[in-house]
Amino acid sequence: MSAPDHPTVFDPWELGRCELANRVVMAPMTRNRADDDGVLPDYAATYYAQRAGAGLIVTEGTQPSAAGKGYPGTPGVHSDDQERAWARVADAVHAAGGRIFCQLMHTGRIGHQSHIPADARVVAPSAVAANLEVETADRTMVPAPVPVELDDAGIARIVEDFASAATRAVRAGLDGVELHAANGYLLHQFLSPGTNRRTDRWGGSPENRARFVAEVTTAVAEAVGADRVGVRISPGGQFNDMADKGNDDTYVALVEALAPLRPAYLHSLRRRSSPLHEQLRALWPTAYVLNTGFMGASELDDVAPLVADGHADLVSVGRLFISNPDLVARWRHGLPRAAWDEDTFFTAGERGYVDYPAHTVPEPTPRSSS
Ligand SMILES: Cc1cc2nc3c(=O)[nH]c(=O)nc-3n(C[C@H](O)[C@H](O)[C@H](O)COP(=O)(O)O)c2cc1C
Repeated sequence: MSAPDHPTVFDPWELGRCELANRVVMAPMTRNRADDDGVLPDYAATYYAQRAGAGLIVTEGTQPSAAGKGYPGTPGVHSDDQERAWARVADAVHAAGGRIFCQLMHTGRIGHQSHIPADARVVAPSAVAANLEVETADRTMVPAPVPVELDDAGIARIVEDFASAATRAVRAGLDGVELHAANGYLLHQFLSPGTNRRTDRWGGSPENRARFVAEVTTAVAEAVGADRVGVRISPGGQFNDMADKGNDDTYVALVEALAPLRPAYLHSLRRRSSPLHEQLRALWPTAYVLNTGFMGASELDDVAPLVADGHADLVSVGRLFISNPDLVARWRHGLPRAAWDEDTFFTAGERGYVDYPAHTVPEPTPRSSS
């Protein structure tokens, strides 16, 4: 039993409109199983339902528009067929007692013309190419393109795309959306001075760099309700050729802009503890979710103190959920954890996706118990 002042990751949490069974979030993970139209296969519903023991699942990054796609095999949430596939996922997760938010990811400059319609362009806040290789639709690696700098109309269009994608996601039965403003994709590109060289109202100061993410969040909150919206950030992150160190003021400005909206949660990636994270945690008015990943596995011993000591309300875990669909039950009962196979993270098909077995028989749902 936990004293209220020392919560555990197994305690429930009220997140927006959702009662979460525990405070362990399955982190968003791209798995590249969708078809060329961005439609998830039927077995994606099995994959997510197998992992419904997480308090909350955040889905793989999902493009809000055809123009926002940057990788082969990522799903979208902008067409009727895609929406139907998400409805199957939502139904399966809910039937298994879980909750699920869809991560909306526009990849910005981390993209390639082969993924997007002929009349669309790879876009970013500024015409600065990432110094890395990107994967084309036929799965070859090529240098990242120089993106086209967005104009005001292009920015407004993307804000609208996010709002209509969120509307579709909720209409499909998903419990909410997470806006991907981390890991070097479009929203993060606006936040960071290395990728945002603008001197108009979208750049040049912390408040201006935060404006695009704030406007997307506001539009999405107006479309589906702020309590159905989470935002993911990675302050100081270097993934995808980002140079975000020393950019703390932008994150403070962002949190100050978002706080009055009271989104459902802020999901922050953190490699090590830092004063900034404690500052953001203190400023943030609702749930604070931490991911301290990529330091080996995010094991119970690593994440439990974050909740117990108040650094976060919830913790998110990535790779362990790939190989342990019943991770929370394993943690709860001290059962061994299976190792993940990196070779099948991004491959097509069911292998390495729906074939990791659960260790335990899942607890009976109310409907199946007699
Ligand atoms: C296969 C894979 C795909 C990922 N895809 C995404 C993604 O689509 N969106 C995102 O925000 N993070 C993505 N991440 C990062 C994870 O959400 C998480 O932050 C990372 O795996 C570290 O947590 P862990 O050490 O518990 O795995 C991905 C990570 C992995 C391993």
